[in-house]
Amino acid sequence: MTERDAPDLGFGSPAASRIYDFSLGGKDNYGPDREAAIRAFQTFPAARLLPRENRKFMRRAVRHLVDAGITQFLDIGCGLPGKGNVHQVAADADVVYVDHDPVAVVHYQALLHAVPRATAVRADARRPHEILAHPEVTALIDFGRPVAVLMTAVLDLITDADDPEATVRAFRDAMAPGGHLVVCDLTDAVITPAERDTAAELVRANGVAVSLRPPARIAGYFDGFELLEPGLVNAPEWRPDRPHEPASGWLLAGVGRKP
Ligand SMILES: C[S@@+](CC[C@H](N)C(=O)[O-])C[C@H]1O[C@@H](n2cnc3c(N)ncnc32)[C@H](O)[C@@H]1O
Repeated sequence: MTERDAPDLGFGSPAASRIYDFSLGGKDNYGPDREAAIRAFQTFPAARLLPRENRKFMRRAVRHLVDAGITQFLDIGCGLPGKGNVHQVAADADVVYVDHDPVAVVHYQALLHAVPRATAVRADARRPHEILAHPEVTALIDFGRPVAVLMTAVLDLITDADDPEATVRAFRDAMAPGGHLVVCDLTDAVITPAERDTAAELVRANGVAVSLRPPARIAGYFDGFELLEPGLVNAPEWRPDRPHEPASGWLLAGVGRKP
């Protein structure tokens, strides 16, 4: 393959997966990703806390669901592998990772090459029916039985124009009773109007669209589901297993069960 034939993986501009990887201390990121992350940290010091708040919530939620008997997990917008990925926390479960970023998917595929009960597929959360019908998804996940669908730190990367509610609804509808939805999402609950403008400037500078949404909209993702205790709360306050630092207030998290 000549350089001209090589696929453009977009390493010249920041990508959400790699900005997030850098923020968690990962090594799978490039200059533009690091510059975008540092710009975000300098603008909003609280942004440093968010990836850890999110990952720790995700792991607590998965541990809870394993204890509740869930044996199948679909991780939408999985990002690059980090510490304590879903198939490692839920070691006896069937797990499918999904991301639209080819680099994230290839990294998971490499990690999972000897793990028969887990796989990674490239697909777009804005086209949920393609994910639900994807042969590698249906080979591992039986939607006739309870499944946990994780959407942690991904719905805020889907703009209003792309209708994040429609994405979540498609997964809710596909679930059998006893299925669970796990969401962690950026909220605008604590930001001032001035910070909102600054956030919009940051989005323009970084070229990665991020939407901060009101708590009521995030709660709406759980329509028709029973929110497990303690409800939709700041991510570190969802069933903490040890004392935690004060919450940033920027990330709301919850787990809902389909009745
Ligand atoms: C901030 S990372 C979150 C990673 C992981 N969910 C976690 O909680 O640690 C967001 C990921 O969502 C992916 N993503 C964004 N929009 C997507 C879409 N429309 N379809 C699939 N993946 C998407 C990005 O590529 C990125 O890898």
